[in-house]
Amino acid sequence: MSAQITVMPSGHAFPSEENDTILEAALRAGIPLNYGCNSGNCGDCLAWLVSGEVRKVHPHDYLLREADKGKGALLMCAYSAVGDVVIQASITGANDIPQQTIATRVKAVDPINEQILALHLMTPRSQRLRFLAGQSVRLEIDGAAGEYFIASCPCEDRHIELHVRRDQQPFAERAFAGLARDAVVQLTGPVGGFVIELDSRRPILFVAWDDGFAPIKSLIQHAMSLEVAESMHLYWLADELAHYQENYVRSLADALDDFEYRLMDAHADLAQLAERVLAAHPDLAHCDIYAAGPAGFLASLREAALARNLSMLGWHEEVM
Ligand code: FES
Repeated sequence: MSAQITVMPSGHAFPSEENDTILEAALRAGIPLNYGCNSGNCGDCLAWLVSGEVRKVHPHDYLLREADKGKGALLMCAYSAVGDVVIQASITGANDIPQQTIATRVKAVDPINEQILALHLMTPRSQRLRFLAGQSVRLEIDGAAGEYFIASCPCEDRHIELHVRRDQQPFAERAFAGLARDAVVQLTGPVGGFVIELDSRRPILFVAWDDGFAPIKSLIQHAMSLEVAESMHLYWLADELAHYQENYVRSLADALDDFEYRLMDAHADLAQLAERVLAAHPDLAHCDIYAAGPAGFLASLREAALARNLSMLGWHEEVM
């Protein structure tokens, strides 16, 4: 039987199945609760029961003080919800996540066109990468390294998708020469603060330029799983790479009522492009914009958005 878990003070709520730990259920829903070892040792996932009932499903070495237990202390990686519960727990921000180094394995390489491939990696069974949508990682194989934005959602457990562009980075050269299934790729990260605002319920405009689509795709999936936005609009401008996952974008539009997209050619003056992107949005006072692309285009887009009453608090950019 599924239970509803509500986290205070953030107000996030998510379902939990009978044998889920509270932490497992939260991560599957994309809620970035704070945690560390995921095995009952560190105490980083300490939370407090506000109402409802929980039961211990895994033993833990971390000692909870009797006095704290009496006040409802619990470890989210060791306890499961019995019926609906409300807990008090802290949400992770981009700066709270520790650097991790993980030996991942190649699950699939999907060569999309001459210039870009989608690389799918799996973390080991006992370890998942802690990250927030919009962050990047460093990949290395046989001494060849490169830095890439994650294109998948933190809610996807052990699977990580990255878009590797044929460029000067040694890792790209190695990847385009061929990566065997199960080859070990050393992953280090995450870094970056281009992450979703968890407590916003405003409409979101996502704007991607070429493979700026990678972090934007991750952000869209995370926003969907968190149900944070009233509506979502994607504008994807393609220059050299074409719209390389157009079918995926179309499937989102088919599946969601509140998602619209427009694929645009990037061959125009930057100020003109910015005006075209925002043409359907005369007033951005109550919106958020997440944009990833070249610095010149982002500057034009920001100027056009501020002229339409966007608050600087609603502007989020990543220069690619
Ligand atoms: S995450 Fe370390 S004790 Fe729960």
